[in-house]
Amino acid sequence: MQPKTAQLKIDDKEYSLPIITGTEGERAIDMRNLRKDTGHICYDQGYGNTGSCESTITYLDGDNGVLRHRGYPIEQLAMFSNYVETAYLVIYGELPNSKQRKAFGHLLREHSAIETQMQRIFDGFPKNAPAMGMLTSIVSSLAAYYPELATNNFEKDLEHFDLAAPMAISKIRTIVAMIYRYRHGLPFIHPRDLPFADNFLHLMFSDPYVAYVPVPEVTNALNLLLLLHADHEQNCSTSTVRMVASSGANLFTSISAGICALSGPLHGGANSAVMHMLQSIHDEGDDGTRFIAAAKSGSKSNRLMGFGHAVYRNYDPRARIIGTACDKLLTRLGKSDPLLDIAKNLEHAALNDEYFLSRKLYPNVDFYSGLIMRALGIPTDIFTVMFAIGRCPGWIANWKEVATNAKGRIYRPRQIYIGAVKRDYVPMDKRG
Ligand code: CMC
Repeated sequence: MQPKTAQLKIDDKEYSLPIITGTEGERAIDMRNLRKDTGHICYDQGYGNTGSCESTITYLDGDNGVLRHRGYPIEQLAMFSNYVETAYLVIYGELPNSKQRKAFGHLLREHSAIETQMQRIFDGFPKNAPAMGMLTSIVSSLAAYYPELATNNFEKDLEHFDLAAPMAISKIRTIVAMIYRYRHGLPFIHPRDLPFADNFLHLMFSDPYVAYVPVPEVTNALNLLLLLHADHEQNCSTSTVRMVASSGANLFTSISAGICALSGPLHGGANSAVMHMLQSIHDEGDDGTRFIAAAKSGSKSNRLMGFGHAVYRNYDPRARIIGTACDKLLTRLGKSDPLLDIAKNLEHAALNDEYFLSRKLYPNVDFYSGLIMRALGIPTDIFTVMFAIGRCPGWIANWKEVATNAKGRIYRPRQIYIGAVKRDYVPMDKRG
């Protein structure tokens, strides 16, 4: 029998704290009344050991490399599902039946276009504006263009959720392709009545007179890439979405905050950083020794990109799937990529190095995701915005959990203040 309470002793006073157990046996000490009862708060910089919510969406066991969405192992979803079906599963909790799948697909197709007025936002950006900066601004503007879906009133916003959710996914996909075209000086292309992934490839690669012809291997690889990013428990961007949502903010605004959080190099920005690293190794004719040696210096800015994870102490299951898929895609397309060989050698070297072994640092999803995007013809400057398309279902599902939680409260962590103690104001002429 597992204990139902934990005992905490502060000086000579004892407190009993309830223990909560999740469906997979995860155990947590309920600290919600700690401050009220004892006058103490929990100190957990970066929330690495803090359960900030209860959730039914994703189960992640980082020690054993396990990832499941709504109970379904990522390996099975990768093998049998596609991005749209997995998005539905993540958002609604169940695999769709054929009627639900059709209706969801219909909404994605129907709401894929960006209205002319909204297209004008693009002209306000310099041609070389960073893609993530553009995406955050344009996505946050969805709340202004569709105020009836984004009222900042949970009750009203939930009434429109079944429209707002596919709309967010579909429009963000279109916006990403438009950002690519804008940055590369290409005219915008109107979406067609195509499946989700094919429509994205059309929006990216068609030209006004020659339509992109779907290639099944490419479509499947894109579906896989997006599916593998669909959700990942309480990562930095998803927790940001929940935090913003907890104030009552609407879905579009909460997602745009998630995109801001995703932009950093330690989170979504890692995929392009990996490609820059592999490219420099290639250009310098090095074997990666320099990057591995620098990564071991302990400096944050020299980390081996695509390695390590805040939660996994094992191989990230998504990295394994994507690495194999990348190999297969290149073989099927009859292509080779010297950067893939460099990545494999680098992985081999790191996994045989005491520094990485002792810290349990394995490749994460970003180690191979850039390589598969490169094989798909997607340029490095939009890698991180691609991650944002994939992660939309997770952000949406988490927003919904916050919005539907009648007992939820605004996220408001505390801190330990370590600044100056009280002192009196010093007039300017006495400041020296
Ligand atoms: N290269 C070299 N050393 C590393 C790396 C790395 N990539 N990652 C962690 N370490 C070291 C870290 O310095 C620490 O060393 P020490 O014990 O000597 O102080 C030790 O390993 C343990 O670090 P940690 O506590 O496991 O790492 P963290 O939770 O602070 O950071 C991370 C997690 C993902 C930010 C980090 O591993 C990292 O910066 N990786 C490179 C960036 C990257 O690939 N990010 C993508 C993450 S997966 C996609 C996503 O979720 O966004």
